[in-house]
Amino acid sequence: MKLHDQGGRGHTIRDYYSASQLRMDRWSTLRETMESLQRAGPAGRSADKLARRAAELLEALAPIELYFAFPGAAAFEHMRRLLEARNIDDLSHVVRRVARALTSGAYRRRSIQLVGETGDNEDFEDESTLPVDARALGRPYFEVLVVDDVNEHHERFLKASLQRMRRVEDPFIYEAVVAPSVEDALIAVLFNPNIQAVVVRPGLSLKSRNKLDILKRYLDRVGDDETVDAMEPWDYGPELCRLIARIRPELDAYLITDRSVEEIAGLDLGLCRRVFYNQEDFLELHLNILRGVNRRYKTPFFSALKEYSKQPTGVFHAMPISRGKSISRSHWIQDMGAFYGPNIFLAETSATSGGLDSLLEPRGPIKEAQLAAARAFGSKQTFFATNGTSTCNKIVVQALVRPGDIVLVDRDCHKSHHYGLVLAGAQVVYLESYPLHEYSMYGAAPLSEIKGKLLELRAAGKLDRVRMVLLTNCTFDGIVYNVQRVMQECLAIKKDLVFLWDEAWFAFARFDPTYRERTAMEVANRLRQTLRTPEHAAAWKAQQEALRDADDQAWLDARLLAPPDARVRVYATQSTHKTLTALRQGSMIHVNDQDFKGEVEEAFHEAYMTHTSTSPNYQIIASLDVGRRQVELEGFEFVQRQIESAMAIRRAVADHPLLSKYFRVLSPADMIPERHRESGVTRYYDKERGWTDIWECWASDEFVLDPTRITLLVGATGWDGDTFKTKVLMDRYGIQINKTSRNTVLFMTNIGTTRSSVAYLIEVLVEIAKELDEVQDDASKMERLAFEKRVSSLIEHVPPLPDFSRFHDAFRSPGATPEGDLRAAFFLAYDEEMCDYVELDEKLLERLEGGEELVSAAFIIPYPPGFPILVPGQVISPQILRFMMALDVSEIHGFRPDLGLRVFNENALKSAEKTKSNGRS
Ligand SMILES: Cc1ncc(COP(=O)(O)O)c(C=O)c1O
Repeated sequence: MKLHDQGGRGHTIRDYYSASQLRMDRWSTLRETMESLQRAGPAGRSADKLARRAAELLEALAPIELYFAFPGAAAFEHMRRLLEARNIDDLSHVVRRVARALTSGAYRRRSIQLVGETGDNEDFEDESTLPVDARALGRPYFEVLVVDDVNEHHERFLKASLQRMRRVEDPFIYEAVVAPSVEDALIAVLFNPNIQAVVVRPGLSLKSRNKLDILKRYLDRVGDDETVDAMEPWDYGPELCRLIARIRPELDAYLITDRSVEEIAGLDLGLCRRVFYNQEDFLELHLNILRGVNRRYKTPFFSALKEYSKQPTGVFHAMPISRGKSISRSHWIQDMGAFYGPNIFLAETSATSGGLDSLLEPRGPIKEAQLAAARAFGSKQTFFATNGTSTCNKIVVQALVRPGDIVLVDRDCHKSHHYGLVLAGAQVVYLESYPLHEYSMYGAAPLSEIKGKLLELRAAGKLDRVRMVLLTNCTFDGIVYNVQRVMQECLAIKKDLVFLWDEAWFAFARFDPTYRERTAMEVANRLRQTLRTPEHAAAWKAQQEALRDADDQAWLDARLLAPPDARVRVYATQSTHKTLTALRQGSMIHVNDQDFKGEVEEAFHEAYMTHTSTSPNYQIIASLDVGRRQVELEGFEFVQRQIESAMAIRRAVADHPLLSKYFRVLSPADMIPERHRESGVTRYYDKERGWTDIWECWASDEFVLDPTRITLLVGATGWDGDTFKTKVLMDRYGIQINKTSRNTVLFMTNIGTTRSSVAYLIEVLVEIAKELDEVQDDASKMERLAFEKRVSSLIEHVPPLPDFSRFHDAFRSPGATPEGDLRAAFFLAYDEEMCDYVELDEKLLERLEGGEELVSAAFIIPYPPGFPILVPGQVISPQILRFMMALDVSEIHGFRPDLGLRVFNENALKSAEKTKSNGRS
């Protein structure tokens, strides 16, 4: 990347991950420069130098500011003129106002006077310090992008015309930004998160006159230069609507055109909500813009709940806390009322009447809220859940899997899947994820593994029983699948496979254009379209010809295409509460299944009833509704900021000499083997080369690393991950994290992560590193040796992670394929008589190495890594035993150190064999 885009304290864009941060930093640098200039006085060498610097900064800001309504073109011009006239005091005053209004968000609440009499030097209160009620009463602000290649005079006319339409009863307030071309409009929607609606007028042109690298980087992400170049001017408007739909599908677009109704009717207009034929009907446009934003703003259930809480109702149902009655009359629990405040109790109800709705049979506001969520997340149906994704996973599995159906699942999936598969009676094929031995964690299941297992089942004539592929995307540690490739290639082998993507950690992904490409719902929607095209049909036919009589290896090697008549059957479960705004346990199931209505709906309903409480928590449902509103209006901005924060941490650790001595952020190269990283991208940030453009690898690679999850290697501190988490981060600094491995800790950024929390984390890490340095300085030779030994044991002597061995034959169906009857084994272990305990020691290892077969009767789940290394019915291999013996973690679920490993005895295996053959006969 070229470095001509210079600005800020000698910073180049190479130093910045995000353009919006660059913009903010430039404004504060300009403010500082102006303050220095004021101090330096009007003349002299230092003043000249500072004035030149200010001019450079203004020039660097000029092309960026085009895309924002505030401070706006007129004010910007005014600042330039003040500088030319060396009116330092006035310019300084204006720049200060702009910088403050931008950081405090004051420009969203009121008009900030910048030209002419600007009033005294009043402080702009920071948005976040205002009382919550005051903020809730204010009218939300947004910006409307008008795309038209007009002169300055006409631009002023357009803005003024929209402003004149404002009415006191408008629920929102907006300002217009005018961009001349398709390219500018794309940059604007990527760059300016305030934009909520786009008005495309017939006069727009194609190319931007703005040639900055940072903007180009944004444009490249939209790609498709050739398509855009080949367009005729009358296509620009519709094409722009389609392109914006790919970047920010939540936006509303309004196309103003002079083409005929018939011509327009046949076009795909992306996110266009209305076509207007009268260019000057500003009132109609204004009302539509407000209505469009209001559609996203509306929270049917949250609003109904608020209304309900205002009604004076007598409570004669079993819920004493409702309306706070049991608290207000209490002498002993007043502090609870004081802590939570009255509203939560006013809203606590189990009534399905009074304008509320029932989660189990939604017909009113819950149904509407779910429909809105389906729109926001790109699904065909969305269901809310008030007890987490653990429950969502069980619902989907029960709804789709019948006893005996084969399910392929990554072995390191969340435990809810294992239990869900037990309950459903699935025949389970565990997929091996690639191991990361040096960090004691697993990656994800490679496509070759998934295809290999499917082909094995095909060869055994069992493909008709294969029902579902269940994968975790992204994994706890941030490994992200190439969802499109996985589904295409699996469907090529079995065209009606159902996919369940566990997106517990990935709800936010929909709101960034790059992440979105790897989400289940986006890919499902795209597959529905691609599979139908004649180009796809032809390509598939050609591939089938080429693969005629080919062996399995050829199928493994080919990049398979799904047949045109493949069914798109995709489910995603998301812990909304983990990555977006929702109360704990608020989750969603998104469905995009062509056969849902015909085949699944009833079973789904039953499964939903099986697992859903009849007393769902209304606050959780309301929070899901509000969380959906937030992402539809500011998900793009918040996710962008989250990525920025994560990138800032990555950079700080890499650049700081002391930090890099004890800590290292694991890079894509550390966490994804080279064969799965086709782009060759190894790291996101590098001290010498700066940022890598992550978009390239996200488009092509089999796996990518979610940069918002930061795995920090801490082995060099001499502490293992768990001790570092509890004894250092938590006890000493109050920093919470929730995952560790033997030598790593995982920091998760989220949409609430702020720049100051990032700064605090870095400060803490620096302090820890300094202390470690001091301890080392004063250490005796013995102490130093002991420290080195500890580090080497944590970094170099990590026990290798074991593979899944196999299900014992007593729990397998005939044939050589690997599926096993998890349920039979699970319930057999209920009978104490069928189980023994064996001590975990060298003697046992010798027995296993000598060929004895022992079969686990329990799930054994060590934390970390947090998933079963043994499941009921699985043969205990020497490798697994060695791993368990080397484990030095405090928590191993399913294992009783006082008793040993719970295994099946001879009788149990005989009984399982017998049950199996009875079942067959
Ligand atoms: C991959 C995965 N799926 C599902 C869950 C369960 O989600 P919830 O906590 O919402 O029940 C988790 C929880 O950590 C998870 O990591």
